[in-house]
Amino acid sequence: GKVTFIEHDQTKHVAEFKHGSSLMQIAVDNAIPGIDGDCGGECACGTCHVIIADEWFSKTGVPNEEEEQMLSMTPERASTSRLGCQVIATDAMDGIFVYLPEFQM
Ligand code: FES
Repeated sequence: GKVTFIEHDQTKHVAEFKHGSSLMQIAVDNAIPGIDGDCGGECACGTCHVIIADEWFSKTGVPNEEEEQMLSMTPERASTSRLGCQVIATDAMDGIFVYLPEFQM
């Protein structure tokens, strides 16, 4: 599948993904700026904050309690914010648009 990451200045990066990778892993593998994944996907650092395009949000599932807690500490939290490491890309997400926050934790 394909995911388009959009930086705060609107620069777009299109990345290919395999079903089952997290958005954080896809971003790190493709050197997308601003996604660090410092904790390696343990839902503990918040450096993988992404904002899902409204029309795709329902396809990404629901944050669990741990993620919800990290998100609540995220300064730029939007209504469609997720932690990239907790969003596993599926074929249903082919073509998804994901926005990067202006400042990453
Ligand atoms: Fe650390 Fe997602 S990589 S919270």
